[in-house]
Amino acid sequence: MRANPEPLRVGMVGCGRVSSKYIEAIRAADRLILATCTDLNLANAQAVADAHGFDVADSLEALLQDESVDIVLNLTPPHAHEAVTVSALEAGKHVYSEKPLATTREAARLVMHTAASSTCLLACAPDQILTGAMRGAREMIDAGRIGNPIAATAFMMNRGHEQWHPDPAGYYAPPGGGPFYNRAGYYVGALINLFGPVAEVSAMGRITWPSREIKTGSKAGDLISVEVPTHISANLAFENGVIATVVMSFDVWNTSLPRIEIYGSEATVVLPDPVSNNGNVLFLPQYESEAQNIPMRQSQDLGTGIRDLASAIDNNRQPILHAGLAYHIVDIMESVHVSITQGSTQQIESSCLRPELSVLTP
Ligand SMILES: NC(=O)c1ccc[n+]([C@@H]2O[C@H](COP(=O)([O-])OP(=O)(O)OC[C@H]3O[C@@H](n4cnc5c(N)ncnc54)[C@H](O)[C@@H]3O)[C@@H](O)[C@H]2O)c1
Repeated sequence: MRANPEPLRVGMVGCGRVSSKYIEAIRAADRLILATCTDLNLANAQAVADAHGFDVADSLEALLQDESVDIVLNLTPPHAHEAVTVSALEAGKHVYSEKPLATTREAARLVMHTAASSTCLLACAPDQILTGAMRGAREMIDAGRIGNPIAATAFMMNRGHEQWHPDPAGYYAPPGGGPFYNRAGYYVGALINLFGPVAEVSAMGRITWPSREIKTGSKAGDLISVEVPTHISANLAFENGVIATVVMSFDVWNTSLPRIEIYGSEATVVLPDPVSNNGNVLFLPQYESEAQNIPMRQSQDLGTGIRDLASAIDNNRQPILHAGLAYHIVDIMESVHVSITQGSTQQIESSCLRPELSVLTP
């Protein structure tokens, strides 16, 4: 471990909606300081910097040339992740990227290779797979409390981003559009945390409405064209034999289904929503009368991942949310879409290690 290390200085790229949560999380972290930020829309960056008292760089290049910046926090939209992460690694910065690592397998591979040939570390969201309930569920499953894991279900269904987002076209266009790219990082990431890597997938999908109307903001009333499946039903076979049914949809007004359930030879566990993540785990053994609502340590919904990156830098180890995991998730996302188009089962070429939770500080 570095002796009496100075706090690591973070340069934030992208000052949109999610940035306020990171500003809060970094402010609460001993080892991190938010030093500077930038955005394609400099007025955005200036407003955020003024409100929180840090510097503004007038371009990505300027931020990368700032030798005092240790970590680039990539909060740009998915289509920009690859370019920002690659340039940051090439400039000698550690990177924490929002999900997904990139919007295609090819782009994600380039990011991973750039990280592999760099001395800097790369970690990728979502870190919600590391918070209280998910860690508790993994401990229960690893300790054998549900017997042998057999199957899982995961459901994420809503009526789409045009209901609340002022500029939602990117959520309906390739690459990177559709509910699977948008949310599988949380749900499939949570399942990989529990069971390890996925071996093969098969999926069906549909475009329910070829155009959608924006409901809010300055573009309200505009129609956007839908070019990706918006209801996807996928089966994932894990290397350990577990079969998961994963349904992700932007076509559903409401649902009473649980978010994630795990079925073992002795019992079932029900997990809370991995996006908001604060909630308990419900343990359902053979007899309903013995059901237990198990309280889990509650935690901030963002911040574990970037705090762990700081600890990984200090301790000269890989971050828990390592690039191999993020690449495997992109590989699964793209394979699901190929399976929908080709009507065939897809073998997943990549594999990955389960997140190493033993190094996680509370
Ligand atoms: N982990 C989570 O819980 C969570 C929640 C919300 C969003 N996200 C992710 O965070 C990322 C950002 O989401 P958001 O809702 O804040 O998006 P947003 O659209 O509100 O903000 C993105 C910002 O990035 C800027 N930008 C775009 N391209 C850029 C570039 N090349 N260089 C510099 N700035 C650039 C835009 O001008 C904009 O201000 C996305 O990848 C999204 O998937 C994660």
